[in-house]
Amino acid sequence: MKATIVLLPGDGIGPEVVHEARAVLELVAARFGHQLTFTEHLIGGAAIDATGQALPTSTLLAAQRSDAVLLGAVGGPKWDNPKASVRPEQGLLGIRKALGLYANLRPVRVHPALAHVSPLKADRIANVDIMFVRELTGGLYFGWPKFREDGHLHRRAVDTLEYREDEIHRIVTLAFKLARGRKKRVTSVDKANVLESSRLWREIAVEISAGYSDVALEHQLVDSCAMRLITHARSFDVVVTENMFGDILTDEAAVIPGSLGLCPSASLGDSRCGLYEPIHGSAPDIAGKGVANPIGTILSAALLLRHSLGLEEEAAAVERAVDDVIAAGARTADIASPIERPLSTSELGRLIRTALGEETAVERAS
Ligand code: IPM
Ligand code: MG
Repeated sequence: MKATIVLLPGDGIGPEVVHEARAVLELVAARFGHQLTFTEHLIGGAAIDATGQALPTSTLLAAQRSDAVLLGAVGGPKWDNPKASVRPEQGLLGIRKALGLYANLRPVRVHPALAHVSPLKADRIANVDIMFVRELTGGLYFGWPKFREDGHLHRRAVDTLEYREDEIHRIVTLAFKLARGRKKRVTSVDKANVLESSRLWREIAVEISAGYSDVALEHQLVDSCAMRLITHARSFDVVVTENMFGDILTDEAAVIPGSLGLCPSASLGDSRCGLYEPIHGSAPDIAGKGVANPIGTILSAALLLRHSLGLEEEAAAVERAVDDVIAAGARTADIASPIERPLSTSELGRLIRTALGEETAVERAS
């Protein structure tokens, strides 16, 4: 197949990890006979420095014309002034909104060989396999009014948490569909004891569940969900929730596999074009040192193959290659034990490509 992929390396460790994921995609293309064309564009702080805008029009146009977008990370101390009128994060929020990417899938799985790396007890987290479905273009992030007022006597700021029925309906429906291909359990997370928007969310979730009698629906308040994620992570299958709750819960859940650096994400809408990014940030403290873990981005590239290009076999091969190198003991600094020499970003990337080469050689022979 032929596809155009827009790369948005962004800031901090973004360029280093995107470089490795691109190399993996190039190998997939060569092995499976696909023609992937890559173009690189600016976003975030790098775009602000070059153009004054966090999401230049040329970047958005390229993304809109592409089959999929692979993003590294945005942000960093250089652009952190709270008084600044333009912030790197606006690039990310802007592209999610402009592409209509309302569904953010964040799978959290524990590799058996890494169970001891997690700060949680290994027996608590063995076999955890959760699919978070975070609403991505509504809620507090985008609600209106949103403003700040510096009065004579005091300062005031307002954000608005609003959800329309159709916004809730499409994301919860997606969660039920995903649950059908998994363990058939949906946990809908809200704060219905306090928030009006959560009560509407809950009502709609119940209505949708009537059409999915094979899938069990449970409701959970976000505060107790945060606790249960640590105490009983295995009890979750698909977790669906609004934008801000999902932002917070998925960073918390990323502790379970052992490192934020391992976790991928896919942001999807109604068109085929999705945006794929690791859930970690730009990690300015280690940027440019070549020590970042590329696995979150490489697994995001696997999700890109699966969801935007429809290449399931290729996606699974990339995921198996990552599993293989982890099982064989390959570790970057974030997951290495104190007595191991950690691999660099590019060393781990190379090992994954070698494993992928072997995977695909086996597949061809069989
Ligand atoms: C994420 C990030 C973003 C978000 C930031 C960088 C705007 O934390 O993807 O989870 O809050 O959505
Ligand atoms: Mg976040």
